[in-house]
Amino acid sequence: MRFVIANWKMNPDSFSEAKNLFLSINEKLTGIKDIKVVVCPPFVYLSKLKENKTKIELGAQNCFWEKNGAYTGEISVQMLKYVGCQYVILGHSERRKYFKESNQEIAKKLKAVTDANLIPVLCIGETVEEKERGTTVKVLENQVFSALYGLEKLGEVFLIAYEPVWAIGTGISCGIEEAGQTRLEIKKSLLKLFNNKEIDKNFYFLYGGSVNSGNSQDYLEKAGFDGLLVGGASLNPEEFGKIIKSAQY
Ligand code: PGA
Repeated sequence: MRFVIANWKMNPDSFSEAKNLFLSINEKLTGIKDIKVVVCPPFVYLSKLKENKTKIELGAQNCFWEKNGAYTGEISVQMLKYVGCQYVILGHSERRKYFKESNQEIAKKLKAVTDANLIPVLCIGETVEEKERGTTVKVLENQVFSALYGLEKLGEVFLIAYEPVWAIGTGISCGIEEAGQTRLEIKKSLLKLFNNKEIDKNFYFLYGGSVNSGNSQDYLEKAGFDGLLVGGASLNPEEFGKIIKSAQY
């Protein structure tokens, strides 16, 4: 099974645009098999998009860890389930950067997501400074360990998205070989954490960061990723359709 996930971020401006985009993406799914196509729109569009009968699954871009209460502006995992979400992106670098989300907070969100039987899309990635210092593997391992340590319930599907921060929205995608090597390092960290237990049945690895229809297939076929997390290119149904097609086995 492969995953192609659209992260629309804070786009588009209106529901009618969101619906058009959603339905145009759905049109691209004729004949597509064994690929989960997931769209993560802004919260406010979720329930209305769910009303459309499509092959697309829905995800959220964030959540809060508490079940309910006095947390102004937050959205719980139960609310996400209620509007038909199955996936939740966690720890995206934009949330780490602009909203100062810490590894500890991401761990709490992750627990809420897996407890609710939702599928996490845990984003990890190094900044350009961390890369230049040669600390990429350490940084990623720390992000993985702090999110997963002590987590009792993994769920059947656990998605880890490697998104180098310097590659997000920049047009500078990570080299295929480098991305493939990093995927192996992340896997090694997971094996360390789980004492070399078989992890293949739960974990799927995605690449994200300036994915387009010209590089998407190489991340899957050459670098060995199980899927893609796509930002900018997922707002263009033609381009996103090509990316989905390139993921077909
Ligand atoms: P991008 O974003 O494809 O626009 O680089 C990816 C992401 O932020 O998930």
